[in-house]
Amino acid sequence: MKKFPNTFLWGGAVAANQVEGAYLTAGKGLSTSDVQPQGIFGPLVERTENDFCIKDIAIDFYHQYEKDIALFAEMGFTCLRTSIAWSRIFPLGDEVEPNEEGLAFYDRVFDEMVKYNIRPIITLSHYEMPYHLVTEYGGWGNRKTIEFFEHYARSVFQHYKNKVKLWLTFNEINMSLHAPMTGVGLAGERTQSEIYQAIHHQLVASARVVKACHQIIPDAKIGNMLLGGLVYPLTCKPDDVWEAMNENRKWLFFGDVQCRGQYPSYMLRYFKDNHIDVVITDEDRQALKQTVDFVSFSYYMTGCITADKEEYEMKRGNILSMVPNPYLESSEWGWQIDPKGIRIVLNLLWDRYQKPLFVVENGLGAIDNVTPEGEINDDYRIQYINDHLVQIGEAIEDGIDVMGYTSWGPIDLVSASKAEMSKRYGFIYVDRDDQGKGSLERKRKKSFYWYQSIIQSQGELLR
Ligand code: BG6
Repeated sequence: MKKFPNTFLWGGAVAANQVEGAYLTAGKGLSTSDVQPQGIFGPLVERTENDFCIKDIAIDFYHQYEKDIALFAEMGFTCLRTSIAWSRIFPLGDEVEPNEEGLAFYDRVFDEMVKYNIRPIITLSHYEMPYHLVTEYGGWGNRKTIEFFEHYARSVFQHYKNKVKLWLTFNEINMSLHAPMTGVGLAGERTQSEIYQAIHHQLVASARVVKACHQIIPDAKIGNMLLGGLVYPLTCKPDDVWEAMNENRKWLFFGDVQCRGQYPSYMLRYFKDNHIDVVITDEDRQALKQTVDFVSFSYYMTGCITADKEEYEMKRGNILSMVPNPYLESSEWGWQIDPKGIRIVLNLLWDRYQKPLFVVENGLGAIDNVTPEGEINDDYRIQYINDHLVQIGEAIEDGIDVMGYTSWGPIDLVSASKAEMSKRYGFIYVDRDDQGKGSLERKRKKSFYWYQSIIQSQGELLR
């Protein structure tokens, strides 16, 4: 394979609530993730002393980050994506002064990355917010949350301005349509109007913090983050093609607002046809004009959609429900593997936005077995990532500005959808099971050495 450009960033991506643990340490407040111990589709629970949630310790990155970052450096990472847990900095979310201990923790983490020339890519909000903002204010349903978020973002921009130059606003901002509690802090059954209103507030907040980032860190770049949920029409029947177009617009809508600075006309019609009332003020319209510098996205799978909904069973993959594609194989979790799809998404986003693109999540969740000799021979993971990187290489040849690639979960972590440890993504194995048993010891898998060789050869060893 041709070498990837010198500027291409290679690394991995994790999220605070899936790796850190230490869920109430050093002043951290309860987050929405802490009250969903069974994952983003699980019920909300009232936390009681000594109850069990796998994320409370997760993989103990809070205490083991030095060791983990050293392993990432050994693989040759030039970047690492993680998130700041908002509730470490503002435990309740509505305070004026930040929690110094929370700020100090990320100082230590970012310093450690910088020590190895690993560029931090920091998501401001990855599937969590202070739970107090949900109970007291109704989450993103309340306009006030825009102010709280902007205050949090300005505080961390100010504090880390010399260390972090790449930022992302909201992880998979489009997933709020499918998991509103996780995305916008709306508990229970909600109407479409309530969900889109909360989403609107989040879009305004995203635009406002892009502006704040430019003011506070002029040499930084800040992007959005979409769940790249590409769907294909199940057949070439025009109704299926139209259905697929609309399904893709459900996620592209977010990118359209964040990249073009206004609501697309198809969405206004959708609101009208479905009696969805969203309050959009002139001030909001003005704020939305601030667009992102680059577009980042996650990509795991694709699926199909048909107009004949009653005839086909929809299956849930990563958040989205789709009709299975007869041409594709599935992972152990039923996610359909489609390397070509990543090239299609890159081309689609490039054609639509002409902004640099960053693949900030991609990977295979699988069961790994440790041999009696202590080895983990994860050839399936090597194959998956190899095939996706080959397609990214093709997209670069297509002329697309791809900033980099961060594989999801370079170290095993707690899965988001069902809070499982057994669904492993890592190049590094972590000894912990779904019940929380295990030594937390780290082990290099076969894929560790493979990814190291790919980074070292700048992609030339991809097959
Ligand atoms: C993305 C999320 O949806 O998919 C991650 O941004 C998540 O947080 C990843 O972990 C994989 O999903 P899961 O459910 O396998 O962890």
